[in-house]
Amino acid sequence: MNIRLASFLILFTLLIASLFGYTQAGNSSKRSSGNWWKEAVIYQIYPRSFKDYDGDGIGDLKGINSKLDYIKSLGVTAVWLNPVYSSPNTDNGYDVSDYRKIMSDFGTMDDFDSLLHGLHERGIKLIMDLVVNHSSDEHAWFLQSRSSRTNPYRNYYHWWDAERGKPPYRYSLFDVDGNAWAYDSTTNAYYLHYFSRKQPDLNWENPKVRAEVFDIMKYWADKGIDGFRLDAFQFVAKDTSFPAFPKGFEKHFNLYYAMQGNIHHYLQEMYREVFAKYDVMSVAEGAGNSFKDAHDLVDSQRHELNMAYAFDGVDLAKPGGYSLLHFKDVFTRWDSAFEKNGWLSIFLSNHDQARMVSRFGNDSPAFRAHSSEMLTTFIMTMRGTPYFYNGDELGMTNIRFDSIGDYRDVQTLNAYQHELKTGGNLKKFMTFQASVSRDNGRTPFQWDSSPNAGFTTGTPWIKVNPNYKAINAESEDKDPNSVLNYFRKIVSLRRTHPALVYGKYKLLDRNNTHVYSYLRTVPGERFLVMLNFGPVPASVFPGFDLRGSTLLLSNYENSDTKRGKTNVLRPYEARVYKLRS
Ligand code: NOJ
Repeated sequence: MNIRLASFLILFTLLIASLFGYTQAGNSSKRSSGNWWKEAVIYQIYPRSFKDYDGDGIGDLKGINSKLDYIKSLGVTAVWLNPVYSSPNTDNGYDVSDYRKIMSDFGTMDDFDSLLHGLHERGIKLIMDLVVNHSSDEHAWFLQSRSSRTNPYRNYYHWWDAERGKPPYRYSLFDVDGNAWAYDSTTNAYYLHYFSRKQPDLNWENPKVRAEVFDIMKYWADKGIDGFRLDAFQFVAKDTSFPAFPKGFEKHFNLYYAMQGNIHHYLQEMYREVFAKYDVMSVAEGAGNSFKDAHDLVDSQRHELNMAYAFDGVDLAKPGGYSLLHFKDVFTRWDSAFEKNGWLSIFLSNHDQARMVSRFGNDSPAFRAHSSEMLTTFIMTMRGTPYFYNGDELGMTNIRFDSIGDYRDVQTLNAYQHELKTGGNLKKFMTFQASVSRDNGRTPFQWDSSPNAGFTTGTPWIKVNPNYKAINAESEDKDPNSVLNYFRKIVSLRRTHPALVYGKYKLLDRNNTHVYSYLRTVPGERFLVMLNFGPVPASVFPGFDLRGSTLLLSNYENSDTKRGKTNVLRPYEARVYKLRS
């Protein structure tokens, strides 16, 4: 073969390899496609409530499969799926009894494979939820572990032998008594559970546990999934001397539980064992207690994670409202902390929150659509990767149950039992839950105006929001001015302007209590975002010259495109301008 032909063949091979994004790393083939996760728009699907295919009242994988074209039509580039593994469902899948099997309510592994294939065919990636701070108490490891003190699996969990006396108090988030130690008579010992009693915490100090988890991750990565969301991961490392949790600080449990001991060591090991070998993104739930904690998790030099998500923003909305100045301050501080290094996650809701529009916007009929769109504009125009929860693209609202019998969430149900036991004020409790319970965000997806919103032909596992005749995907799809179609436009805008992903963020008019405005800038391009967070017209900062700028998107018809005159935004109005450079 002559030299020219040989070099041509080498170059050709390299070109094909790079087109398909394959490089060799060690023994395993590693797909490398750069920072796709920074440019991703992630759509979170809560499988139990998305679409029921077999009519048992519970959403399933076939149901999601039947809606792939809808998902594609949104323009999103990745799906994060809440847990779909075998589970007795105490906490809707966050209590896994077999990490390599699909929950029977949701279907089979073939259904999963079809889903993965169907998403990939449409250019959409799939991120799995990895729940390994704890397992279900029905997992084979725990069944073994609790069976005897000498069982080889004993050390997979945290045990405290009763001869040592009662273990020092530890707070549990979901326990009826708030106690994280549960007594187990089989071996006369207590086991630790930061969540419900049916969710015993795994012992990450045990290298065997870590090896099991890495194997599970490889199992899914080998199937071709594209990422992991690490549930409650900031809690995995524990001070195993178990110092007493100070009573009265339960609301600040994060300060005592997050980012303990060996967490970075575990993550670096996970990186070596899994992340270095596959092109999978990683995002942890929780980012510790300081910017330093958050940075340490995602600093690429440290080889731990790609992203973590903090709660400072999403936690701002309280039943009594929130202050826009505070909101701006939190998001601005987070942005500046990550300006040079690391990467952020941007979200205002997920399956652990009540609905975005009911918490941060205004779900009354007059303002629901505009305020949903305004909030979506915020999420899609900030730096960081947006995570968007299913149903928010329709502007779905809180259901506000008034009977405890309607609730399904273990957190609400156990807290209710606690109130009963301690003689709490049940009326106050119910009013509070009506605005904060996670079940508000878990009611079935509203597909159309047919019975049960087209979610199921059976009896839904949780009630459908009665407003589905007015708020549903089918009718919004047909209406060019709907929340749904606005969502599609803003997603497309983000995807066509890298400045909205990477551009420098600068807050304007900091003290404006009604309007949030900011610039996003890359060399040669500047974008201005103006958001009215209130139900009354509000003035924009004075003196900003918009002549020659282009209004790229607004959530009102007839927004002034030849600007320079008006400086008033209508209720919940959102505008995105490209400025003269
Ligand atoms: C966080 C999950 O998002 C939540 O739904 C779950 O209840 C807890 N972790 C426990 O896994």
